[in-house]
Amino acid sequence: MELFDVYPLYNVTPVKAEGAYVWDEKGTKYLDLYGGHGVISVGHTHPKYVKSISNQLNKIGFYSNSIQNPLQKELAEKLGRISGCENYNLFLCNSGAEANENALKLASFKTGKSRVIAFSNAFHGRTSAAVAATDNKNINAPINLQQEVVFLPLNDIELVIHEIGKGDVAAIIIEGIQGVGGLDEGTTAFFQEVEKICNKHNVFLILDEIQSGYGRSGQFFAFQHHNIQPDIITTAKGMANGFPIGGVLILNKHEAKYGMLGTTFGGNHLACAAAISVLDIIEEEQLLANVNSVYAYFLEEIATIPEIKKVKGKGLMLGVEFDFEVGELRKKLIFDKQIFTGGSNNKNLLRILPPLSISKEQIASFITALKEVLA
Ligand SMILES: Cc1ncc(COP(=O)(O)O)c(C=O)c1O
Repeated sequence: MELFDVYPLYNVTPVKAEGAYVWDEKGTKYLDLYGGHGVISVGHTHPKYVKSISNQLNKIGFYSNSIQNPLQKELAEKLGRISGCENYNLFLCNSGAEANENALKLASFKTGKSRVIAFSNAFHGRTSAAVAATDNKNINAPINLQQEVVFLPLNDIELVIHEIGKGDVAAIIIEGIQGVGGLDEGTTAFFQEVEKICNKHNVFLILDEIQSGYGRSGQFFAFQHHNIQPDIITTAKGMANGFPIGGVLILNKHEAKYGMLGTTFGGNHLACAAAISVLDIIEEEQLLANVNSVYAYFLEEIATIPEIKKVKGKGLMLGVEFDFEVGELRKKLIFDKQIFTGGSNNKNLLRILPPLSISKEQIASFITALKEVLA
C-alpha cells in the first residue's frame, strides 16, 4: 500500500528532537521555529512530559467516556485556573477541527439557528462545518456547501451588524489571531463590539484559539488582550505538545445535556496525562513570561533588518512580512542554515511559531542566519 499523497513534503526526515531542536536521520541538527505547525508548546521531548505519558501508559492508557476519569477533572481544574477561565466548562475531543465542529454544533443546538459568520482568510479545520467556515474554496467539497456561512472582512462592524440583523445567525467564529491566513487580527474595538452584538441577538461568539491559545500570544488566550468573554473557546495544537487532543470551553451559563456531544477517544487517560503535564510545565517554567520577554527581544532584533516590511502577530505567533515571496528564503533557511520556519496564505510572510520555551540566544542565531541569507 502507498500513502494517499496529499502533502507536498520537504525532503527532511526528523528522527529525534529536544527542546527547540530537531535532528534528521543523518544527525543534522535543525532549529525549530515552526513547532510542527504551532503544536510544540513546552519543547520537544520535555523530560517531565515524557515521564508523565510513560507513567500513565504503564497504568491505564484508555477507557471509554462511560466511566469516571479523574484525570479529566484535574485537567479541567488546572486549565480553568491557569487560563483565568474558571467560569467555563470543558468538553474534550481529539483535534482542532473537531473542537470547532462541536462548538458550532453546540451554538446551533442552543440558539436553534444555523447560519454562521466567519471572516476573510479564516482557517477553522477540514471537517464539515469547520471547513465550511474556512475561507478556502479549494478544500471545500460540494458536500460542505450545505452549510450556510458568510465571510466578512475583519474589523468591519457595520457588516457584522447587518448580517446579524437578518435574525438567522447561530454563531460568529473568529481566530484570536489568524494563523494560516497570515497573522491578521481583530482590533480590540472590533472584538468588543462583536461581543456586544452577539449577546444582544442570541448569537454565540466562538473564539478559535487552536493556534493562538495556550500562551502563544503572550496571554493564555489571545482574546484576553481584548477584555471580552466569548461563549465558547476552542483549543488544540499546543494543548498536549503533539499528543492529539482538542478542547471546547463553554461559558458555564450554557447548560449541558446528556448525549448533546460525545466522542470515543476524546479525553482519554493518555491525552489527559499529556495535557496536564503541559499545564504543569507552563506554570513551573513561567513560559508566558518567557514568551513576552523573547517577543520584546525579537522585535528589537528584527528591526535591524531593513528588508522586513512589517512584523505581524503577538508573542511567539509571528509573521515577518517582506515585499517578495518567501518560498526560496524558507528553503535556504532549512537547507543552508538548518532552521525550520512556516508559510501562510500570504506568500510574502515568514511564519514563526517556536516552542514557548525558546531562548533569546536561539532567536539571536535565527536573526544572524536570516541576515546572512538575505545578503
Ligand atoms: C486556527 C485553527 N483552527 C483550526 C485548526 C484545525 O486544527 P486540526 O488540524 O487539529 O484539525 C487549525 C489548524 O491549523 C488552526 O490553525
